Amino acid sequence: MGSSRRDFLKNTALASLGIVASKSLASPIAETFIPDPGEKFVLPPLPYAYDALEPFIDKETMQLHHDKHHQGYVDKLNALTKGTMNMAQSRAEQCRGVNETTSAVIRNNLGGHYNHSVFWSMMRPGKEAAPTGVLLTAIEAEFKTYDDFKKAFSERATKIFGSGWCWLILDENNKLKITTTANQDNPLMAFAAEKGRPVLALDVWEHAYYLKYQNRRVDYINNWWNVVNWDYATSLYNNTAR
Ligand SMILES: [Fe+2]
Repeated sequence: MGSSRRDFLKNTALASLGIVASKSLASPIAETFIPDPGEKFVLPPLPYAYDALEPFIDKETMQLHHDKHHQGYVDKLNALTKGTMNMAQSRAEQCRGVNETTSAVIRNNLGGHYNHSVFWSMMRPGKEAAPTGVLLTAIEAEFKTYDDFKKAFSERATKIFGSGWCWLILDENNKLKITTTANQDNPLMAFAAEKGRPVLALDVWEHAYYLKYQNRRVDYINNWWNVVNWDYATSLYNNTAR
């Protein structure tokens, strides 16, 4: 058994006990929640309770978002791709393979699965924190201060027309950039206007906030910063997560 598979099984066992794998484990924390490739696509369990992000994101939204919306992407993906996807690839690698010739339903549901898998790990209960270490240094090099970055990211997220995602990515020149994608597209996909590896992901579909915030997207975005998991963002930045 390879070390990656062994770590995955170990982390899955921890996750089933409600224990979030810590940095001290050999495997990055993200692998707890984005399963290794198998026969089928799998809905990763939420790494915390449905109400853990209260009062910033409500329990009912989390239940619907995870159990209905994300489950729906997984179910459709399994029905659509039976035997046609290379399941030896990671979800990120599969997204990199999405191009102009990919059918819209696979593009939407694969993107929906990858994006939400990242999004659940991108959040955690607790007090608002700020990035530290290498990620903070990189953000300050690109955006001057963390507050300047936060303001710029929030503004981009607020201005997305319709449904989509706001991202902080590390592009092919190792430069941090804020970018947005429509629907369930992501910056890994071949046709993305700005390609790169996701570091931060914010879902701005109405299903992510409408029950609590109705049309006040800006309030949802401002409150989302309270639940950002900077450890996970840093593992994405360091490319130790998938
Ligand atoms: Fe969503």
